[in-house]
Amino acid sequence: MAKPSLTLSFLLLFFILALSSTFFQVNSLRGKVGGRQKIEDVKTNKEVQELGKYCVSEVNKSLKKYNQQKGNGNGGPIIFTSVVEAEKQVVSGIKYYLKISAISSSSGFPKIYDAVVVVKPWVHSKPRQLLNFSPSPPTDTK
Ligand SMILES: *[C@@H]1O[C@H](CO)[C@@H](O)[C@H](O)[C@H]1NC(C)=O
Repeated sequence: MAKPSLTLSFLLLFFILALSSTFFQVNSLRGKVGGRQKIEDVKTNKEVQELGKYCVSEVNKSLKKYNQQKGNGNGGPIIFTSVVEAEKQVVSGIKYYLKISAISSSSGFPKIYDAVVVVKPWVHSKPRQLLNFSPSPPTDTK
């Protein structure tokens, strides 16, 4: 009587091990393909800095359009200073999460903005797409 149940529990153990190992494999795969990766050389990374500039110029463009239609109530354009932090994520293309320092021309003070931009080099009509651009919420890093 003891023998079959022992075999059964070994089988069960094996099954659980096999299941959890595939679970961990899937998880680590997900970390590689879909996870966000911090970009360490932000300050010297030309592509990232260029992307930041692109984001600001896109915002400038849409601001200009908005102000032409509704008057100058939405603050002036902003002037790109630099990207201060960046993360990238492989999706269908590469998604960049940027922290951009720019000077608001209405106040003259530098501000930090959060931008999300997707790069798809194979889409020739629009290889870069700005998904989000908003003032960064203040953080307690001081
Ligand atoms: C945005 O507009 C301002 C004012 O016209 C300009 O100084 C700035 O260079 C523009 N673009 C960027 C990317 O900062």
